[in-house]
Amino acid sequence: MSDSIGDTTAPEIETETESEVETGSDSVAEAAVGDEADPTITTVDNPVVKANELTVHYDDVQALQPVSMGIPQGEVTAIIGPSGCGKSTFLRCINRMNDLVDSAQMDGELLFKGKNVYDDDVDPVALRRKIGMVFQKPNPFPKSIYDNVAYGLNVRGDDENLDERVERALKRAALWDEVKDQLDESGLELSGGQQQRLCIARAIAADPEVILMDEPASALDPVATSKIEDLIAELAEDYTVIVVTHNMQQAARISDKTAVFLTGGKLVEFDNTQKIFENPDHQRVEDYITGKFG
Ligand SMILES: Nc1ncnc2c1ncn2[C@@H]1O[C@H](COP(=O)(O)OP(=O)(O)OP(=O)(O)O)[C@@H](O)[C@H]1O
Ligand SMILES: [Mg+2]
Repeated sequence: MSDSIGDTTAPEIETETESEVETGSDSVAEAAVGDEADPTITTVDNPVVKANELTVHYDDVQALQPVSMGIPQGEVTAIIGPSGCGKSTFLRCINRMNDLVDSAQMDGELLFKGKNVYDDDVDPVALRRKIGMVFQKPNPFPKSIYDNVAYGLNVRGDDENLDERVERALKRAALWDEVKDQLDESGLELSGGQQQRLCIARAIAADPEVILMDEPASALDPVATSKIEDLIAELAEDYTVIVVTHNMQQAARISDKTAVFLTGGKLVEFDNTQKIFENPDHQRVEDYITGKFG
């Protein structure tokens, strides 16, 4: 099985340089106003995903102002901010899900391991295997539990040791013990929280490096939410996880780093989660976190 998402002869960008980061910060600063004129975007060594001046328009509505940031490998990065600030838009740029929105126009670069995913030679389907996605509403296929997990492998004719790989993915998604005796039953008969873990198992079976999650627990009850949160922490041992959440406590509990987008699609602050929640640089970030708006 190839790890390639396209022509990877392009040189890998191993580390972001000071100048790259400053370029990003400056251009966001140009677009910013008032006390947000100086965003604080921390540098990350060896980012697995890196946005360079990434902007998105839907027709003539600008959903993201130029975003420049690096996402650290093997950590959980939370993305927070008020409704409509561009969190899902940013997430969907990372594995080119926005390609499916006709009106979406992306500019700038989005690098995955140094390769711009918007280059002509990148296959979006191969990219989405490497950068899997889990949505707010669990979306199992109307198939058996087994076939849900095996789906991606079957589609690409990669059926060697299928039973073993399905079992491994279900174990990794902390679902195996609950479903091992009912693998032939429909995925749609599981509870909401189990369905969400099934979707995580489906993403894991494709052998991704990055898992994107867009509010993965917001439709779940507190017990199911807590299971997903525990799972995210465990997944970070093997994968890079980028998770959008509206729940501040959840972001504080589960993430290593937090990016705060504010209204207008502007990335205002990106730093260690503890710093963002205890001592953010920006008053509006503090106001948002403490519930004064949003
Ligand atoms: N498919 C689309 N077509 C047109 N405009 C869109 C589309 N998707 C998003 N937008 C617009 O882009 C902006 C950012 O939307 P996005 O969904 O990324 O925000 P969000 O931060 O994820 O919000 P929420 O917290 O409500 O999920 C909003 O103004 C939204 O109306
Ligand atoms: Mg959203």
